Amino acid sequence: MNHPANHQPQTVQRVLLTGAAGFIGSSLVDALLAQGVEVVGIDNFDPYYNPDIKRRNLQQALGHNNFHFYEGDILDRPLLQKIFVHGDFDVVVHLAAKAGVRPSIVDPDAYFQVNVQGTLNLLHLLCESPQTRLVMASSSSVYGNNTVAPFAEDAETSLPVSPYAASKKAGEVLAYSFHQLYGIPMSLLRFFTVYGPRQRPEMAIAKFFQLIQDEKTVPMFGDGTTARDYTFIGDIVQGLQQAMKFCTGFEIYNLGNSSPVSLSEMIAAVARAVGKDAKIQRLPEQPGDVTLTCADVRKAQAMLGYQPSTSLDQGLGMYRDWLQQQQALPHNPKEQNA
Ligand SMILES: NC(=O)c1ccc[n+]([C@@H]2O[C@H](COP(=O)([O-])OP(=O)(O)OC[C@H]3O[C@@H](n4cnc5c(N)ncnc54)[C@H](O)[C@@H]3O)[C@@H](O)[C@H]2O)c1
Repeated sequence: MNHPANHQPQTVQRVLLTGAAGFIGSSLVDALLAQGVEVVGIDNFDPYYNPDIKRRNLQQALGHNNFHFYEGDILDRPLLQKIFVHGDFDVVVHLAAKAGVRPSIVDPDAYFQVNVQGTLNLLHLLCESPQTRLVMASSSSVYGNNTVAPFAEDAETSLPVSPYAASKKAGEVLAYSFHQLYGIPMSLLRFFTVYGPRQRPEMAIAKFFQLIQDEKTVPMFGDGTTARDYTFIGDIVQGLQQAMKFCTGFEIYNLGNSSPVSLSEMIAAVARAVGKDAKIQRLPEQPGDVTLTCADVRKAQAMLGYQPSTSLDQGLGMYRDWLQQQQALPHNPKEQNA
């Protein structure tokens, strides 16, 4: 792996992680605990998808001495204050958010409440903890539909095409203003369609696995040429950990795979992983969806030593193995509603 040339790694001993029970959050929790890091997690088990899945994500971590968990909301300022008072955190990793493009069109207010006001709540507290740095999730969706691929961090991002994307962009600019005013060191990470074990159940790959497995029709929105830079969760966790160690000033990084895959290729790859044919039904394109995402990851490679290394076929294979393992576990009937 390339190591960042210009700076020494910073201490990562005690971390506050928002959105700890989610797909990316819980994967990071497990990786940090395995390295002896003390993690304080907060999550409100938002019902955007079945909260039982999130509880299951944390099952292992909850038995760990170095993990302390608060079931609560980042909109609850007194709770956050209580967590910060004895915090002494090296890093706050802020992943809690309302995720997903389509539901943000239905309820934009809720997205702005959590993704912007929730972020502001944390920023207020970070002002009082000058030793703490911030690593925060943003999204490839901020690039909208007009960016020339591959998307570099300094490309145009003021033309989002969904309230979700607008809320992530708003979180970025709000964070920047706090960096300018109070000097909080921060790195904002624009993730590109993350997939793998613990994948959010409403995301396309998870749905397609289930449909192809059950020999049901796969709805394909558009003509199959829209493309995404699918990025494996293990690569994202590696990038997150590097960003936590190398966080000075204000930086934005793309964490993607630099290798976009069209929707029809992705369906074919899922079918290969499942070992069955996909029956495709073509449907009109969905409003709010972008046509292409493609990360330029050179900055993250050079500054963080970020090195995505998992091909789509390898990543889908690991997801399939994880799904099979889950199905073999004692089943919680509530999860059928996810
Ligand atoms: N998964 C992706 O492909 C992707 C892509 C781009 C950006 N992101 C960003 O990465 C982050 C993590 O996404 P994810 O895929 O793990 O989603 P996720 O929904 O699995 O995780 C988000 C977690 O935040 C929690 N949460 C929501 N509102 C909260 C609140 N008010 N207070 C406390 N906790 C709250 C949820 O319960 C959930 O567990 C999000 O900020 C998302 O916008 C994800």
